[in-house]
Amino acid sequence: MSETTFTPRVFSGIQPSGNLHLGNYLGALKRFVDWQAKDVETIYCMVDLHAITVWQDPADLKKSTRELCAGFIAAGLDPEQSILINQSQVPEHAQLAWVFNCVARMGWMQRMTQWKDKAGKNAQNASLGLFAYPALMAADILVYHATHVPVGEDQKQHLELTRDIAIKFNHDYGVNFFPETEPVIEGAGTRVMSLRDGTKKMSKSDPSDASRINLTDDADAIAKKIRKAKTDPDALPSEAKGLEERPEARNLVNIYAAMAEQSVDQVLADVGGKQFSEFKPMLADLAVAKMAPITTEMARLMQHQDEIDKILARGAERAREITAPILRKTYDIIGMVGPSSL
Ligand code: TYM
Repeated sequence: MSETTFTPRVFSGIQPSGNLHLGNYLGALKRFVDWQAKDVETIYCMVDLHAITVWQDPADLKKSTRELCAGFIAAGLDPEQSILINQSQVPEHAQLAWVFNCVARMGWMQRMTQWKDKAGKNAQNASLGLFAYPALMAADILVYHATHVPVGEDQKQHLELTRDIAIKFNHDYGVNFFPETEPVIEGAGTRVMSLRDGTKKMSKSDPSDASRINLTDDADAIAKKIRKAKTDPDALPSEAKGLEERPEARNLVNIYAAMAEQSVDQVLADVGGKQFSEFKPMLADLAVAKMAPITTEMARLMQHQDEIDKILARGAERAREITAPILRKTYDIIGMVGPSSL
């Protein structure tokens, strides 16, 4: 089969490894909801197979997967409109990942900065899965022939690798079967930084809980973390240029802009000249107004885990209507004997 145009389809994923935070929300989840409102098919995944590339306690993994699903729905994803799945219930992800393990080159994987950061000096002791992780990520995307992938800035290199894998597969087998996916990295929330250090990414693995706003934090905790966020002594500038050497100030303004759905320039036109003692309470009020309803709804949904499990089972059924034929066709292209081979 030779396909030349691909219907627009959106796919993205988040790891269910605990501590869903403001970075995940502004960089990814909030934008998943924006895409759902457009006239395009949307598929969102709790990537449990990715999570186990580092140790996960089994009971915690189940809880985090359900909590992430609750977070997806509480943030505005509708399981009727979007397909919501956990990766392990759609076996074609892992099956296509094996094929891609045979397409991707060791050198490509070794260049991944996340691999270098996570494996660090102890690479010999890292799991093989952690090394192969980006090939599974490519499979997640390409097993749907997804064309658009909304993510935060830190996933850019993995998406470039996804394109390289698609291009090499198409070239090696002389087909135009996998699309060259577009990373969608847009807006002020694509790189939310730590509240304690504006040069470090907000991350679930930061030992300091004060460095991030978790989606499970209540209104008081959110307000307190913003009040204590690191800043500098100067007033806010009136133009984005004035934030250049001020990582903490820039981060708080970016967070405000992403939550208020304004550009950084629009925000600074309003708050330029204000001291942090005035701006922080504004930011805290906005954050509480946006986040607290999500937190409350997540907690409510977590009381109905059987409903969550049903949503994921139904999502997997719908997903497999897309993934099973694409995997079958892939196997056929590479010469595996099966029902569709001639
Ligand atoms: P993960 O689980 O680390 O993060 C999920 C999403 O949140 C974004 N993100 C951030 N955005 C802005 N500021 C931050 N501080 C911040 N921290 C995290 C991430 O960029 C991501 O969009 N490998 C992926 C999961 C994945 C995936 C996929 C994504 C697996 N397969 C296929 C897209 C398509 C990851 O570990 O994301």
